[in-house]
Amino acid sequence: MKNKFLKKISDISNLHKRAAFSDLPDRLPSKESVFQALAKERYSCRQFKDTPLTDVQINHILEAARVAPTAANRQPVHVWVVKSPEALEKLKGATDYTYGAPVVFMVGAKADAAWVRKYDGKNGAEIDAAIVGTHIMLEASALGLGNVWVGSFDPAKIKADFPETAGYEMVCLFPVGHAAAEAGANHAKRQEMDIFATEI
Ligand SMILES: Cc1cc2nc3c(=O)[nH]c(=O)nc-3n(C[C@H](O)[C@H](O)[C@H](O)COP(=O)(O)O)c2cc1C
Repeated sequence: MKNKFLKKISDISNLHKRAAFSDLPDRLPSKESVFQALAKERYSCRQFKDTPLTDVQINHILEAARVAPTAANRQPVHVWVVKSPEALEKLKGATDYTYGAPVVFMVGAKADAAWVRKYDGKNGAEIDAAIVGTHIMLEASALGLGNVWVGSFDPAKIKADFPETAGYEMVCLFPVGHAAAEAGANHAKRQEMDIFATEI
């Protein structure tokens, strides 16, 4: 076992019988990192099997989210795990994009708890929540689970229907489950490196 990350992946694979990345070292070109391979394997999954997630899977995703960095370590972010059939049904009233997933992680941020940049007053809450969300997405992918970032939802409806979220601005939702669909066409479409990055 080359490093802690690979060991963790392998442990998880044993737990829920998925070998998602256990053969990664063999598949990696010499210069591609484990993380880069994961970043490329991730895709927006928009169809899920009925299979529920285990508590172990949910807890691994939450743990990866919990350790995300936040500006000045203010940690102004909260995650709600929408899992009961009633709550999932309610959430469908606020977004068209739960895609039948057995669990939806909702990530909210509290602006008045976040770091504020002194030069221009920019509030860091949304950025912090986006990083937490990114950890959710990538940990779900590392577990071999399908997932998708959903930004298209009615925040007022979520606020009204989920009083647990009071005081937070909802930033992003993540349907997660066992994938029943491959990547869509957009997954392969990225800017060329010379357009994307510039050396100065
Ligand atoms: C901020 C953000 C908001 C998004 N909102 C939605 C959404 O509401 N519904 C959806 O199906 N996909 C949504 N996506 C997924 C993007 O459409 C997808 O990441 C992009 O087309 C690239 O495809 P890929 O993720 O498969 O590589 C969102 C992605 C991001 C980063």
